[in-house]
Amino acid sequence: MPTRLKSRDIFQASCQVIPGGVNSPTRAFPGLDMTPLIAARGQGAVVWDADGHSYIDYCCSWGALILGHCHPAVVEAATEQMRLGAGFGMATPPELAIAQKICQHLPSMEKIRFVSSGTEATMSAIRLARGYAGKDKVIKFEGHYHGHSDGLLIRAGSAVVQINQEASSKGVPSDFVRHTICLPFNDIAVVRDFIRSRDDIATVILEPIAGNMGLVPADPDFLAMLREETEKKEIVLIFDEVISGFRVGLQGAQGLYQITPDLTCLGKIIGAGFPAAAFGGKADIMNHLAPLGEVYQAGTLSGHPVAMRAGLAALEQLEQPGFYEQLEKKTTVLVEALRQMMHDKKITGCVNQLGSMFTPFFGPSEMRHKTTLNQELYCKFFKQLFQQGIYMAPSPYEANFVSSAHTDEQIEKTCQACRDLSFVT
Ligand SMILES: Cc1ncc(COP(=O)(O)O)c(C=O)c1O
Repeated sequence: MPTRLKSRDIFQASCQVIPGGVNSPTRAFPGLDMTPLIAARGQGAVVWDADGHSYIDYCCSWGALILGHCHPAVVEAATEQMRLGAGFGMATPPELAIAQKICQHLPSMEKIRFVSSGTEATMSAIRLARGYAGKDKVIKFEGHYHGHSDGLLIRAGSAVVQINQEASSKGVPSDFVRHTICLPFNDIAVVRDFIRSRDDIATVILEPIAGNMGLVPADPDFLAMLREETEKKEIVLIFDEVISGFRVGLQGAQGLYQITPDLTCLGKIIGAGFPAAAFGGKADIMNHLAPLGEVYQAGTLSGHPVAMRAGLAALEQLEQPGFYEQLEKKTTVLVEALRQMMHDKKITGCVNQLGSMFTPFFGPSEMRHKTTLNQELYCKFFKQLFQQGIYMAPSPYEANFVSSAHTDEQIEKTCQACRDLSFVT
């Protein structure tokens, strides 16, 4: 491991003033027993740490940077807006421009409202769904993450309906989570029977392409069932596309699966690395929001013009012909190398890929729902790649992302590093 003394010092000093030294837990590399990456700068697909070491970055700001770091069009748009004013707390032209573009690509979003984080987007969408439906209960799925609002922090893990209602975080009153029901992902029979048995469900929220237990796409039949059953019961179906939106194509997961949700949450890519997210959907649902309706939702920084300009500039790049095909091609090369590595080294596991997202799973030979993974093997995998200047997700339960800035040489370097891995202790 190259010396990372400055990184260590910064992290230790940060721990004195910031809990755990980080502003979001995974950044501390829990379970890896090493100083986390302290990012100093990024360019293209590369990030440099505080000691000047470079890493090929497959985290890409947790998927936000589909164009890599510092794409010139994004830098220019954001800089130009900074000169005009960083924020006003007023309606602005850039928010209209990006709203129109998103609604054009995602026709299920007849109206959209911008917020500053994915957490806000899902929290607001659920409030709206409840206000619209006049009911309280929310269904979510094991292993799905929708941000850290109280009602969505339900412990995942058990497939048994209704016994898993304990909050995953201290500080969340049990009263807050008793309206949230956590069901097994991709289990058609259990979920269908449950929905049919109830008349108090306001909304079902899910990641149609789950990215927070590693990458685990929904089975098409599972999504089709959800749409059919929610429609019959007039339950609001929310697709949390904070990761998959503009990641798997211009129409997101809903375009890929050809399923129309009632509401959609977006984040990450639409802000091009700046804090921006959104929720939107059918106009007759969205019109229940204040000031038109009685569901209150607001934000000082919502629709922040710098984020809106940056996001719009990024979306324009994604519209270039062949953008997603190229991204997928590059990713497939890497995924094939990972699969070959597992085969050659006789590791039980599998690699899931969808477009430019992928996760190597150590332990299960297939991954369709939340399963316990082999943290020890993942740790070896992560650390050896890190030593070679390659930064994969610092947890086995996270997805990796390829950006348009990753070059064939960088992909090949990563493939070679995978071939060279040693899992012998
Ligand atoms: C699917 C999904 N929804 C919501 C969120 C929460 O977004 P944020 O971290 O911006 O609050 C995340 C964050 O990773 C996410 O992956």
